[in-house]
Amino acid sequence: MIDLRSDTVTMPTAAMRAAVLDAELGDDVYGEDPTVAALEARAAALVGLEAGLFVASGTMGNLCALLTHAARGQRVVCGRDSHVYCYEAGGASALGGLVLDPVPNLADGGLALDALDAALPSPDDPHVAPTGVVTIENSHSRCGGAAVTAAVTRAIVARAHAAGVPVHVDGARLINAAVALGVPPAALGAGADSVQLCLSKGLGAPAGSVLLGAAGFVARARRGRKMLGGGMRQAGVLAAMGLVALETMPARLHLDHARARRLADAVRARCGARLDVAPPATNVVLLRPRPGGPSADALVAAVRAHGVLLSTLGADRARAVTHLGIDDAGIDRAIAAIAACA
Ligand SMILES: Cc1ncc(COP(=O)(O)O)c(C=O)c1O
Repeated sequence: MIDLRSDTVTMPTAAMRAAVLDAELGDDVYGEDPTVAALEARAAALVGLEAGLFVASGTMGNLCALLTHAARGQRVVCGRDSHVYCYEAGGASALGGLVLDPVPNLADGGLALDALDAALPSPDDPHVAPTGVVTIENSHSRCGGAAVTAAVTRAIVARAHAAGVPVHVDGARLINAAVALGVPPAALGAGADSVQLCLSKGLGAPAGSVLLGAAGFVARARRGRKMLGGGMRQAGVLAAMGLVALETMPARLHLDHARARRLADAVRARCGARLDVAPPATNVVLLRPRPGGPSADALVAAVRAHGVLLSTLGADRARAVTHLGIDDAGIDRAIAAIAACA
């Protein structure tokens, strides 16, 4: 099968597996796992923030961040299409007593600034839940893998900070965005207060994320991680693979982006009358059926019979995500399958 459902389906490389054998381990809940500490420091340096916290998943990293920035009863202003709002099981509300306040996402992955301003009301107004944190996503998955520029992030951060509100970046694919924009990952922090970086997406590690921020923020988030059951003992076995991912995988992400572009261009050329295909910025290709084209569900089912796996994104779009398990031959097969079925 050519599995383009997500870049989460990758298997660890031989170098990652080998790193586990030699990893120095300790009890990370006591702060004694040197491999976890090395990963946290390496990720913090990469993103230009002071400290890091290794967590089990991107969802846990985002949740720890939101619970650390905002108190019960406060608002989390997020994009209507954000992963935090759409796909994290409402954890911030269910577990943190936070109110998710979605504002429209723009095509560039940013937030509609007028709606953001309206969601940053005076903290003295007793009618409204005060806003505790603003969160943005980079790259933005449901915006077709849009790479959010530092300028867009800076504009959001400036507004939020002017209202005394911190900003969290869901950077599950921040390195993809940095590669696409040709800037260092640290540039995309752009003054934000925390960043969550996934090791298990384009970077190919089997599990884990790092939540990054100032040392005081990370110390408080550490208690949140414990509360969520995310304190892992000899977590260095995972962190060792994460370190290899951070060291070796960013240099190959441009290949995933080029393959996504080739897939999008070929599908547009062959099926443009039936599928609307925007040029991908990173490794995500969205296929939106035009009137008269197949439904997204029907397309996904039909290409499956040709050995190609896509996912649906809502009712009206199919999605293909390139990653280290997809080579040029896989892209050729996917193009042929989609052209045969669309
Ligand atoms: C943008 C984004 N944020 C967060 C996550 C959550 O990551 P995890 O699946 O590790 O919980 C994902 C997962 O695909 C994602 O795409």
